[in-house]
Amino acid sequence: MATDIPTIKLESGALIPTLGYGTGTAWFKKPGDQGIDQATVGAVTFAIKSGYRHLDGAEAYGTETELGIAIKESGVKREELFVTSKVEKGIDDIQKAIDATLERLQLDYVDFYEAYLIHSPFFARNDNDLQSKWAEMEKAQQAGKARAIGVSNFLQPHLEAILKTARIKPSVNQIEYHPYLQHGDLLTMDKRLGIVVEGYGPLTPLTRAKGGPVDELVARLARKYSVSEGSVLLRWSVDRGVVTITTSGKEERIKEFLDVLKFKLTEDEVAEISKLGEQKHYRAWWKSKFAADDRS
Ligand SMILES: NC(=O)c1ccc[n+]([C@@H]2O[C@H](COP(=O)([O-])OP(=O)(O)OC[C@H]3O[C@@H](n4cnc5c(N)ncnc54)[C@H](OP(=O)(O)O)[C@@H]3O)[C@@H](O)[C@H]2O)c1
Repeated sequence: MATDIPTIKLESGALIPTLGYGTGTAWFKKPGDQGIDQATVGAVTFAIKSGYRHLDGAEAYGTETELGIAIKESGVKREELFVTSKVEKGIDDIQKAIDATLERLQLDYVDFYEAYLIHSPFFARNDNDLQSKWAEMEKAQQAGKARAIGVSNFLQPHLEAILKTARIKPSVNQIEYHPYLQHGDLLTMDKRLGIVVEGYGPLTPLTRAKGGPVDELVARLARKYSVSEGSVLLRWSVDRGVVTITTSGKEERIKEFLDVLKFKLTEDEVAEISKLGEQKHYRAWWKSKFAADDRS
């Protein structure tokens, strides 16, 4: 069954589905884990068959082999999928890293719908570092290995640094995004530059930071629209114009999250969640890289 997940056009012309299925989080392989993880293959295959077309992977998750197998097993045509990968450990040799990624994914090339992201800006010692790595990313796109290139966890100064020398603008910035981490002006800046924002960790208020100011409203809206509280949070993120990445190992939730395509929050409801969310600050990922009160 294919679902009509709405898409957003990237600068490159590629269409990115606004809801994606992640292969990190619980799927993450720990050091020493060997062999194919059939649970990951099964869940990703189920997600694709249920209608997800945007699959979020990364070299660092250790699950690219499973993702490649699931793509094959799903029977869905490659050109209908938007597969993302990210480089982190292999950052010193991006061409080698992307070749290895493609081999694990069993893809000859990263197709028209693909974005390739620098996993996080934290490797960079200075602007020159960022700029030279970005030039390597551009080479990967020019070689046809990635159809679109972007960044992940970039804040305003990091974007400004690479834009000074970029020949190809990043098409996507993937960041943690939920009501308790709205990043001040970052979204406005990304949008002004034509950079699409992708948000991960959308369910954080429900899963990792429960007991906060949005709980009551999210529960009320879930009742109003007869959807789960998770679907309300995903819809809020999509309604803020953010390409939203979630994940689940539970078939029921994988299907349920597609409910976000069946309803829409009103502008007032979106604004109310945003306003309440600003009363609390919570960062679920990369905590050690930021000061506790850093909301950027
Ligand atoms: N670029 C980066 O630095 C970065 C960082 C983190 C993540 N990501 C990407 O984003 C994807 C999604 O990230 P995320 O896991 O933070 O997304 P999320 O959508 O906030 O959380 C998904 C997790 O929440 C659990 N969950 C869902 N509904 C729940 C409920 N009602 N009660 C309790 N638990 C519930 C799911 O577990 P079940 O299996 O039980 O449903 C799943 O483990 C990752 O897989 C990865 O692809 C990128």
